[in-house]
Amino acid sequence: MDEPLSRRDFSRHAALAGLGLGVARFAPDDPPLAGSTAVDRTGGGAGSDREAQHSVRMNQEGRLAATEFAPQRDGVYLNHAASSPLPLRTSVALRRYLDDRQRLFHLYQTGTQDYAVPALQAKVGQLLNVPPESVGFVPSTTEVMAMALNGIDWRPGDNVVVPANEFPGVLYPCLHLARRGVTVRQVPVEQHVDLDRVLTAIDARTRAVAISWVHWITGHRIDIARLGAACQGTETLSIVDAIQGVGAVPVDVSAAQVDCFVAGSYKWLMAIPGTAAFYASPRFIAQVTPDRVGHAGMKTSVYDAPHIDWLPGAARYQVGGTINAALIGLEHSIDLLMEVGIPRVQAHTNALVDFLHRGSDAAGLRFNSDLTPTHRAAFVNVTTGDSERDERLVKTLVSQKVIVGRRGPGIRVAPHLHNSVADMERFLAIVRQTT
Ligand SMILES: Cc1ncc(COP(=O)(O)O)c(C=O)c1O
Repeated sequence: MDEPLSRRDFSRHAALAGLGLGVARFAPDDPPLAGSTAVDRTGGGAGSDREAQHSVRMNQEGRLAATEFAPQRDGVYLNHAASSPLPLRTSVALRRYLDDRQRLFHLYQTGTQDYAVPALQAKVGQLLNVPPESVGFVPSTTEVMAMALNGIDWRPGDNVVVPANEFPGVLYPCLHLARRGVTVRQVPVEQHVDLDRVLTAIDARTRAVAISWVHWITGHRIDIARLGAACQGTETLSIVDAIQGVGAVPVDVSAAQVDCFVAGSYKWLMAIPGTAAFYASPRFIAQVTPDRVGHAGMKTSVYDAPHIDWLPGAARYQVGGTINAALIGLEHSIDLLMEVGIPRVQAHTNALVDFLHRGSDAAGLRFNSDLTPTHRAAFVNVTTGDSERDERLVKTLVSQKVIVGRRGPGIRVAPHLHNSVADMERFLAIVRQTT
């Protein structure tokens, strides 16, 4: 049976679970994880200098934060546009959280919440360059797209503009508006979204543009500052699915002036599924009424004031309790990304993709992606020029533990900070042998 926690134990466990401070941290006397040499246990907090140096260190193979991803060394993981492996620190924090959940009695003793969101709001605010109170959390990226589009006060004859090749989670919420008399203007796309064409489709009755920052198949990135500028001073809200960019490409959302910007946790942010962080601009908050309401988005208690009284900021869009494991994971993974620095992550993945590009002719590969600096993100789509060969190649790669995805016109190759040139060479070597 568990002994009651001493005061010191309690504060340690509380800190580990993110109680009070809202931050789960390693403590100096935590036992090491089996087989792990990666966590600096002498520095104390996740943000300490020693751990920062440790985390961002590049090993001889040129992997950023290599020790955070030791279990990846069995194979080559190049599928971050689908889902990310967990950094060691995130995995440790989640295990600790689960352990703590088995000993919940101390929460009830103190009345403390299991996780407090403000620290994470501040970190996401820093990552996106937006005020913390404009950041909210819901279970998925697509929930924000649906919530944003459903919450507009549509009038018959209004329209929404959306590129025709959008991710289904962007297209479906638009299509669902037709029942409310909204015209869905799907902008044709040849190879990549042409933002000029999207902006030309906006007229006086356009209430929203729904679009991805980075396209999920090709990694093509649009200029969100142009989108934001075009929508400012009009009735059109810019609602951006950013899951394929945040964590891999630096962004200044305030400067871009977009109205809603959302990124789920499990791809380039390197955490687990279960949450998406989003930014809501002041005019978004003024124009988008939450489409659902529960206890979490309210300023007052229904027993004191039985009417709807929204919280200020993005917190109003939260309906019920948060998925705290996902938030704790996200916080630790963001810590790692910020210690490394997003510009450094970007430079690293650009170098890997450039290496792939240089080797592609000799391997018989063609790029379906645009590598110009303003349009590239961290991943690309390549092809042998024959879809059946692409299909076979993906199977061969995966059977040899080089994990990529078959998407759209080719093969999606999506490296992150733990990958190295050696990984790209292994990919190319298999392609050369197979094609
Ligand atoms: C552009 C884009 N948006 C949204 C999603 C799904 O996000 P979520 O599961 O958080 O709704 C994906 C996943 O592949 C995606 O590529």
